[in-house]
Amino acid sequence: MSKNILILPGDGIGPEIVGEAVKVLDELIAQGLDVSYENALVGGAAFDACGHPLPETTLKKAREADAILLGAVGGYEWESLDISLRPEKALLGLRSELELFANLRPAILSRQLADASSLKAELVEDLDILIVRELTGGIYFGQPRGVETLENGEKRGFNTYVYTESEVKRIAHVAFKAAQKRQKRLCSVDKANVLEVTEMWREIVIEVARDYPDVELTHMYVDNASMQLIREPKQFDVMVTGNMFGDILSDSAAMLTGSIGMLPSASLDASAKGMYEPIHGSAPDIKGQNIANPLATILSLAMLLRYSLNEEQFALNIEQAVNSVLDAGLRTADIYTDGTEKVSTTEMGQAVRSALSKSGSNS
Ligand code: IPM
Ligand code: MG
Repeated sequence: MSKNILILPGDGIGPEIVGEAVKVLDELIAQGLDVSYENALVGGAAFDACGHPLPETTLKKAREADAILLGAVGGYEWESLDISLRPEKALLGLRSELELFANLRPAILSRQLADASSLKAELVEDLDILIVRELTGGIYFGQPRGVETLENGEKRGFNTYVYTESEVKRIAHVAFKAAQKRQKRLCSVDKANVLEVTEMWREIVIEVARDYPDVELTHMYVDNASMQLIREPKQFDVMVTGNMFGDILSDSAAMLTGSIGMLPSASLDASAKGMYEPIHGSAPDIKGQNIANPLATILSLAMLLRYSLNEEQFALNIEQAVNSVLDAGLRTADIYTDGTEKVSTTEMGQAVRSALSKSGSNS
């Protein structure tokens, strides 16, 4: 039976960039990739259509799908909604309902974009970091949480930073396995000097390390890690950390590449079913202008094919096609520099498809 992909375009620039990725998928299907796909509403778009950012029908389709490709969610029009109805809740709901606990966020500096970083070229040349972020636990999901009013009328807000041993173990295994396939260096990031929960995190990671004697394990406090990322980013190979620290560090790491519009991500469950999305957000300020960079979403499709569908060759073909359009000097506005050719979202998508159709006819 052919595999099924659920497409969730979402809000802002989501529909435009996902539209280009779907056309890439169509090209691969024409070349023989055996998958089917269907769309569903998520985020603000779903709220507008049916009053909830993650409708039951979407969740059902997401459970049934073999993999999910998501654009982005959120926008100004939904910012005043109750937190339980905001578009971001759909993302958190999908992550937790589908147990997508392992978030892989690569920060790779494309050779053609070496000048795009705000750091000196020698600090970031050939940068290739993988952040493994725990995605379904920690302070994002801990109970109790809320805002209460005390007897004296003062408000008190609270969230809970909690991890169980098994949650730490499973993300640590993912990170060690990833490191084994790379430079075999893993840095675990915590705040063990202050927070008991992360002191426990550190102890468990050390325990799991016994299964991976070939991987060199180091530990770093999160404040230092955020500094080291900017000071000497190439010291890192794989970083593993909890949900909130990972949220923050992965944005910094992405920006080291100077082109957040280029970076894909994967959120996987224990059986490698996953949701794939660009690292950037819904960018409502440039929505509908046909200027957003579709490459992070197209590269997310490549990750989807590799991790969830086991279609390594098609994944490689996409990555090579993206490389060749960058080699040819095509750039969307976010990565444009003098001497390159500025193209629109749809032109960039079209260029990737032409490159792909060439690789398809050669293979
Ligand atoms: C991310 C985003 C989300 C997060 C938001 C949109 C809920 O920042 O995927 O990094 O905080 O996890
Ligand atoms: Mg984030």
